[in-house]
Order: sequence, then structure tokens, then C-alpha cells
Amino acid sequence: MKILVTGGAGFIGSHLVDELLSEDYELVVIDNFSSGSFDNLSNSITSPKLKVIKGDLRDASVLVASLSDTQTVFHFAANPEVRIGDPNEHFENNIKATYNLLEVMRKMDVANIVFASSSTVYGDAEALPTPESYGPLKPISIYGASKLACKALISSYAYTYSFRGISLKYFQCYRPQK
Ligand SMILES: NC(=O)c1ccc[n+]([C@@H]2O[C@H](COP(=O)([O-])OP(=O)(O)OC[C@H]3O[C@@H](n4cnc5c(N)ncnc54)[C@H](O)[C@@H]3O)[C@@H](O)[C@H]2O)c1
Repeated sequence: MKILVTGGAGFIGSHLVDELLSEDYELVVIDNFSSGSFDNLSNSITSPKLKVIKGDLRDASVLVASLSDTQTVFHFAANPEVRIGDPNEHFENNIKATYNLLEVMRKMDVANIVFASSSTVYGDAEALPTPESYGPLKPISIYGASKLACKALISSYAYTYSFRGISLKYFQCYRPQK
């Protein structure tokens, strides 16, 4: 099976790349290297099963090349800035990028997507630890709102176009230095 990992040069995405390669999958990584790096891919960059494309999800034409013969997408690319930042950056790199990806997937009959969502979709949750079923979802950051919008888009593609979508709500992730 061939898998596309968006944001595969980032912190979490690069660990996923290492893991998927150890399971012998064929991978394509697309990343614009805005916060990712080749250092993150040092364990896997020499693998013949890995192809790295430097490209931006805001450009749908890059996605067409990346998705050829792909069955599944792990969508981890995003502007991960939780603090205020520039709302337009969140719209472009999170919502528009996800929309571009879903549209190219739809046109190319790629119907499986795993999305890196976030605990920020809960906002100031009153229940701690927060159960997966908690609601209503009331994000308090632009980042959280963008993640919730992406999740809603994926849900709508699942119901409208028979996609299979999974949203993983990560809380604070940390790692040892590679
Ligand atoms: N780290 C956490 O604690 C945490 C918590 C919740 C959710 N998440 C989500 O998990 C995913 C990975 O987070 P991370 O901590 O590894 O962040 P990261 O910044 O290390 O990884 C994001 C990657 O996406 C790439 N990218 C950004 N915009 C892009 C674009 N327009 N086109 C192509 N590539 C683009 C970056 O260069 C980077 O490699 C993100 O979607 C993030 O929102 C992370």
C-alpha cells in the first residue's frame, strides 16, 4: 500500500514516517518545510521506500503528483501555532490546505484519511480528563477553530463521498531529541 504523509518532515509526522517504513509501507511525504526539517527524517531519508516532495498544500497542483497511486493519506501538515498568530495563516495552511487535499483526493478516488486534530477543539472543557464524547465543541483559539473546521470538512466528505476519515485529537505531545 502507498501512503501519503502531509507534514511528514515535522515533529509528529516524521515519527509516523519512521514507524510506517518499519512496517514496510511505501511512502510519499509532502512538506513545505516551514517548521519541518530533513533532520527530523534522518532515520528514514535513505529508505528506497520513501519519496520526499518539497511542496505546499495550498498549491493543489502539487497534490495531484503526490497522490498518484496512493490509497491512504495521513494529514499532519498544519500551522501548529496555538497562540494567536495570524488568523489568515491558520485559514490558509489548515482549512484551505485541508480543503485542497480533500478535493484532489475526491477527484483521484483516494478515500482514506487520518487527520491530526487537536484537543483545542474542546476549548475550555469543564470535564477533566476530557472524554472523547465531550461537547459542545467550543474552541477558544483560531488554531482550535481551524482544526474543528477541518474535522467538519472531513466528516462531510465521509458522508457525501464515502470517504473513511479518522480524526485523532492530540493533546500536548513531547519527545526526546532525535
Ligand atoms: N505537537 C502537538 O502537541 C500537537 C497537538 C495537537 C495537534 N497537533 C497537530 O499534529 C500535526 C503535527 O504537529 P507537529 O507538532 O508535528 O508540528 P510540526 O510543525 O513539527 O509539523 C507540521 C508540518 O507541516 C508542515 N507544513 C505546514 N504548513 C504546510 C503547508 N501549507 N504545506 C505543506 N506542509 C506544511 C511543516 O513544515 C511541518 O513539517 C499538526 O497538524 C498539529 O496541528 C500537534
